[in-house]
Amino acid sequence: MKKIVIHSAGSREKLQYIETEDLTPKNDEVLIEVRAIGINYADVCVRLGVYESAKEYVGWPITPGFEVSGTVKSVGPSVKKFKVGEKVVGFSFFNAYATEVCVSEKQVMPIPKGFSLEEAAGFSAVFFTAFHALHHNTVLRPGSTVLIHSAAGGVGTALVQLCKAHGLRVVGVIGSSHKRAYLEKFKPDVIIDKSKEDLWGVAKEAAPAGFQAIFDANGYTTFKDSYKHLAPMGKLLVYGAHGLLSKNTGRINYFKAIVGLLRTPRFWPLEMISSNKGVIGFNLSFLFQEEDLIRECVEGISELAASGDITPIPVTTFPFEKVREAHELIESGNSVGKIILVVSSAST
Ligand SMILES: NC(=O)c1ccc[n+]([C@@H]2O[C@H](COP(=O)([O-])OP(=O)(O)OC[C@H]3O[C@@H](n4cnc5c(N)ncnc54)[C@H](OP(=O)(O)O)[C@@H]3O)[C@@H](O)[C@H]2O)c1
Repeated sequence: MKKIVIHSAGSREKLQYIETEDLTPKNDEVLIEVRAIGINYADVCVRLGVYESAKEYVGWPITPGFEVSGTVKSVGPSVKKFKVGEKVVGFSFFNAYATEVCVSEKQVMPIPKGFSLEEAAGFSAVFFTAFHALHHNTVLRPGSTVLIHSAAGGVGTALVQLCKAHGLRVVGVIGSSHKRAYLEKFKPDVIIDKSKEDLWGVAKEAAPAGFQAIFDANGYTTFKDSYKHLAPMGKLLVYGAHGLLSKNTGRINYFKAIVGLLRTPRFWPLEMISSNKGVIGFNLSFLFQEEDLIRECVEGISELAASGDITPIPVTTFPFEKVREAHELIESGNSVGKIILVVSSAST
């Protein structure tokens, strides 16, 4: 088998291919012959050495990646639910950038009906994130208005779909005009193109009384204004800070990052009492051992996919051999939907 390994933090050249021994599934594990691998912005953070759970639980060298689709190649003796030859989705705590992946059967799902293998590979990380943000961290009623930053990205598209499926009024924010046509397909109620429009002026018109929830992974560039535009009882959900990093260069600009960190707002709990607003942070990668929580995400998302309430996120594919180009695209901030690496027989 082949896998992609990063030996130390740095630029895209750090993504190296190595040949390694084939895997054997342990007791409750399923060995998946990988067809497609989902790329997440978090993988870039892992490569740059700023992803906390990768530093805490793995260190260097590391094979990044959280999600694959493919065919079951073999199973451990106690595996009941999956058979050799079945097409499946697997999600893992790193190690997914590989032509074979071994995970516990609890981390395997059938391919949702109507999804291609490429679409299925890009499904779990973003929808689990959206599901966890919405269902485990907020109490929203039909008709609530929510604002979603980076709404045309992977997590953004999943949030738009999930919020619409639950009858919420959705305001989606995009950072460049070419993303509008893509986002319109998911029918948000309002789109704000912040490259052309006054983000907070239009947001105020869209929700004069404020938002019941705002989903924000930008960081210092928007956290303060997002909080300001919450309605009483509104929640700001913070789950990333990509605005600290640079687009296009493939490296950390330490000056930009430090200035961004210094400009990151500090929230004052006593003010929150009288304004009835809250800030919630989460990172699913630190919750991987919470089996009930992960099971709820799997079941909730599987049901919504089976009923057609959520649909596959459109994908842009790269061959397995082009992982550096795939990282370049997600780092540019210009991508829409999901980016997927496709493993062909030539890759293995
Ligand atoms: N905490 C968690 O559990 C969790 C789980 C999954 C993802 N995340 C976070 O959620 C965010 C979205 O992840 P994703 O994988 O779905 O990525 P993505 O949304 O497909 O891509 C990132 C988007 O962020 C915006 N952006 C703003 N500044 C950027 C910068 N300096 N570099 C690159 N993009 C920038 C761009 O959209 P616009 O210009 O249109 O805003 C870009 O398209 C990331 O911050 C990721 O780390 C967190």
